Amino acid sequence: MSPDAEPGGAWDLTAEAPAKLNLYLEVLGKRPDGYHDLRTVFQAVDLADTLRFRRRTAAGIHLSLEGPEPVPGGPENLVVRAGEALARRLGRTSGAEILLTKRVPAGTGLGGGSSDAAAAILGLEALWGTSLDPGDRAALGLELGSDVPFFFLGGTAVGEGRGERLRPFPAPPPCGWLVAVPEFRMATPEAYRALSPGLTRHKQAFTMLESACIRGTFEGFVENLGNDLEAGVVRIQPRLARIEREIRSRGAAFVGLTGSGSALFAVFRSQGDAEHLVESGLPEGGARLVACSPVDYGARVVSQA
Ligand code: C5P
Repeated sequence: MSPDAEPGGAWDLTAEAPAKLNLYLEVLGKRPDGYHDLRTVFQAVDLADTLRFRRRTAAGIHLSLEGPEPVPGGPENLVVRAGEALARRLGRTSGAEILLTKRVPAGTGLGGGSSDAAAAILGLEALWGTSLDPGDRAALGLELGSDVPFFFLGGTAVGEGRGERLRPFPAPPPCGWLVAVPEFRMATPEAYRALSPGLTRHKQAFTMLESACIRGTFEGFVENLGNDLEAGVVRIQPRLARIEREIRSRGAAFVGLTGSGSALFAVFRSQGDAEHLVESGLPEGGARLVACSPVDYGARVVSQA
């Protein structure tokens, strides 16, 4: 605890920061600003980090970390960057203490850092008794990362542009889900550099995915999932192909990369099938398997004292 926080005080507020999967990711082209134009379908899932907040009289964001997934706790942490950007925006002279319980592994395409940033903004707005206009909040989020605006919406959504032009998308049909987290991590710029030019999904995939979700058809859903970044990422990390084959051979109807990786997600007929594989696990050198479920929310304040 920082010296000027209220001694032994309880936390004032708790926020949840769910992870995301990219069910579909199409790279439409490179832009003059160095980013790529995308069309992607985000899905929030119940694998989540927790943030706890306490008022602090001194200025600045004081971050502490706990939980199984190590991340840097310094000024480069997106929670600190988000908090400081919001404080600047609001002209605040007092700060906050934040405890981040990290469960979503970094460098895996699960959007943990982006979701933490969104949860930090929402949590601090509530802590400081203020509320940004949703457009300003999304713009502040986009300055921190391309995926941050999605977490203000959550659920299932299509993102265009860098991923920030968002609209809700029909929820997937009932199925089983797991995430496979390999030992290695992937840096997002490297994944974009490995992109093979001209490699895109077949033209109708997006429309067919949308209609499968509307009609609730499992086959149409799994047939039209995919990610243009995957081939390049697998070239950098060929072990991913072996993990994919292993999960498919254990009954998955679909296995693919989320975001720029390194994590994969798999879709099964039922949650029981997914959990069965999580219980048995993959052979040594494979990936850690975590069962998950889609949720219809994003980053959110869950309790306030
Ligand atoms: O916005 P974010 O910090 O997540 O982006 C990290 C990097 O990923 C960018 O610097 C860029 O190299 C790449 N990127 C991209 N196009 C996007 C999103 C990310 O090229 N739409």
